[in-house]
Amino acid sequence: MVRKAVIPVAGFGSRMLPASKSIPKEMLPIVDRPAIEYVVKEAVRAGIKEIILVSHSAKAAIEDYFDSQFELEQQLEAKGKHALLAEVRDILPEDVSVISVRQHQALGLGHAVACAAPVVGEAPFAVLLPDVLVDCNGQPEDLGAMVEKYHTSGVAQIMVEAVPAERVDQYGIVALQGEAPDPGESALMTRMVEKPPVQDAPSHLAVVGRYVLPGEIMEILAQTGPGAGNEIQLTDAIVTLMAQAPVAAYAMRGKTFDCGNKVGYLQAILHYASRHPQLGQKARELMAAELAESAAN
Ligand code: G1P
Repeated sequence: MVRKAVIPVAGFGSRMLPASKSIPKEMLPIVDRPAIEYVVKEAVRAGIKEIILVSHSAKAAIEDYFDSQFELEQQLEAKGKHALLAEVRDILPEDVSVISVRQHQALGLGHAVACAAPVVGEAPFAVLLPDVLVDCNGQPEDLGAMVEKYHTSGVAQIMVEAVPAERVDQYGIVALQGEAPDPGESALMTRMVEKPPVQDAPSHLAVVGRYVLPGEIMEILAQTGPGAGNEIQLTDAIVTLMAQAPVAAYAMRGKTFDCGNKVGYLQAILHYASRHPQLGQKARELMAAELAESAAN
């Protein structure tokens, strides 16, 4: 059963500077909670019970966020602020634990995932890249569907979406046995290549930051040398896995927001603000007023 998720959070976040200079980019708020909370909650809703953060000494604020804050809780209790207290306590369900391991050198995504090997052991696991937020807008969620497919088929699932030609060289790109699957479905992969130039790319289907992988990938990662960008690539390990076992591309239903860059981050704020259960109405009014005012000036 897939009960563990690896979330690599050691990266510096240089595309979000200066905001990410002294706090982790994963702690930047999307409306009223840090971006990482959306990702962790997505994993929890997919049935994950153990979150493994692959972290760095400059990123301790992330671990603290998922820990309890005794003094704060005591003060909220004493002041009778029960709603706020419930909110800070409900960040994580009690049966979910957060474990953190360190990535001592920035050697790439594959290396980051391999750092979690002592905690993952031989179990299958999910990987969630924290820059990417996925909103399924009330439909069944993609990561949950990928985990279910893994449970019924035992086949690794890699989430993909079609991207415009000019962005193909920023992603892992896959080739499939047949037609692209319908959203919410998977198809077996024949190839995967990290950040190809668009003219060499086997398709425009990009890997978007959610994976469900068998435990064997850890052994493969341990043997994987540097690839594209001179980094140890998860993509290269998946290619090796494909020679041993089938691997499927899962076509996502939801919408992605890349919070690792400023435009994607802004888009995520607008999206989640306008759909926020308490603040949404106000947010939409404020956005409309700002638009009207800037059009008038
Ligand atoms: C990583 C992966 C790439 C994937 C991308 C999704 O690249 O290596 O295959 O398409 O995440 O965001 P990075 O963006 O970390 O360079």
